[in-house]
Amino acid sequence: MVKAKKWILATEFAGEPKDSNFKLEEENLPALKDGEIICDAVYLSVDPYMRLDRDWINSVGSVIIGEQVARVTESKSKDYPVGCLVQMYSGWRSRTLVNPANKTATEAIHFLKVPDLGKLEPSLALGILGMPGMTAYFGFLELCQPKAGDTVLVNGAAGAVGSAVGQIAKIKGCKVIGFAGSKEKCDWVKSLGFDHVFNYKEQDIDKSLKEAAPDGIDCYFDNVGGNFTSKALQHMKEFGRISVCGGISVYNATQPPLTPDPFMTILSQQLKVEGFIVMRWWTRFPEGKAEMKKWIDEGKLKYRETVQDGFDNMPKIFMSLLKGANIGKMIVKA
Ligand SMILES: NC(=O)c1ccc[n+]([C@@H]2O[C@H](COP(=O)([O-])OP(=O)(O)OC[C@H]3O[C@@H](n4cnc5c(N)ncnc54)[C@H](OP(=O)(O)O)[C@@H]3O)[C@@H](O)[C@H]2O)c1
Repeated sequence: MVKAKKWILATEFAGEPKDSNFKLEEENLPALKDGEIICDAVYLSVDPYMRLDRDWINSVGSVIIGEQVARVTESKSKDYPVGCLVQMYSGWRSRTLVNPANKTATEAIHFLKVPDLGKLEPSLALGILGMPGMTAYFGFLELCQPKAGDTVLVNGAAGAVGSAVGQIAKIKGCKVIGFAGSKEKCDWVKSLGFDHVFNYKEQDIDKSLKEAAPDGIDCYFDNVGGNFTSKALQHMKEFGRISVCGGISVYNATQPPLTPDPFMTILSQQLKVEGFIVMRWWTRFPEGKAEMKKWIDEGKLKYRETVQDGFDNMPKIFMSLLKGANIGKMIVKA
């Protein structure tokens, strides 16, 4: 019998997540049967979507959802020997018993062997070469349809998704404007090759956009929503394209937004606005990962991780992510 730990959603989130929302429990995993494996978490991902109020995300009493990279430590499966690395959406668990062969088709697409990344850390499978990287790659290229010379705006620019979007836009020959929440973040984003970077906590958004994009914005990749988006919309060129990726500024909101209705601007500027959930491109992830890996190997795409220690600290690390403690992808080292 092996012991495992898991984080449970103890109470529904209301406003900013707090300690009382989370409960750490222990469980005993049964002895392995044929075909089963036990995987020990090596790296766990914390992501903003874990805060969303959607029934497919978290429910009180259940293990908090999330992806991890784990090492097989016991095995009765010839396909997954001890030592092999897998990535899976098994939630905030320190140790997981899995039967890979018994997975439904939907579960199976979320259970993969971590590919050989050469000298790169396997944690990248949770970041630039995983879900956030694919969000940037497909969410930007497919929905914004950037052309060389376009002016691109991305907020959350020092985060896992935003930092990749801006660099992909540069690779495609665009002019890129980024917004992030501290001087340290802005300095890093600038070092990635963004043309203009502003600290949204200190600089006026309208004034900054007038200065950086006097002729307007062609492509807006939105990670933040709310007040930022109401302002950004006023700077869109006719026939601009907007990829609605996230709205982190409103995830913890307890009141409905008081921002102006954006639809008249969408109409008058004849904008194309599309929301997405990255899994729509799941079958094309191998193509996106191969292209991103090539750009990394060629030195065209940089990444950064904020790695924090300790499975027992997951709630604290998740809460700090929502407050901007990360540069690049926030990763928990188990
Ligand atoms: N549609 C999809 O399928 C999909 C997939 C993945 C992610 N997403 C969305 O993409 C966005 C970025 O995700 P990520 O994983 O890359 O997270 P991230 O940007 O690495 O981390 C979250 C960042 O959000 C910023 N933030 C927090 N509160 C903010 C506020 N009130 N206003 C502006 N920025 C704020 C913080 O940076 P600052 O210090 O700069 O404020 C923080 O570091 C999120 O909205 C997420 O939900 C969507």
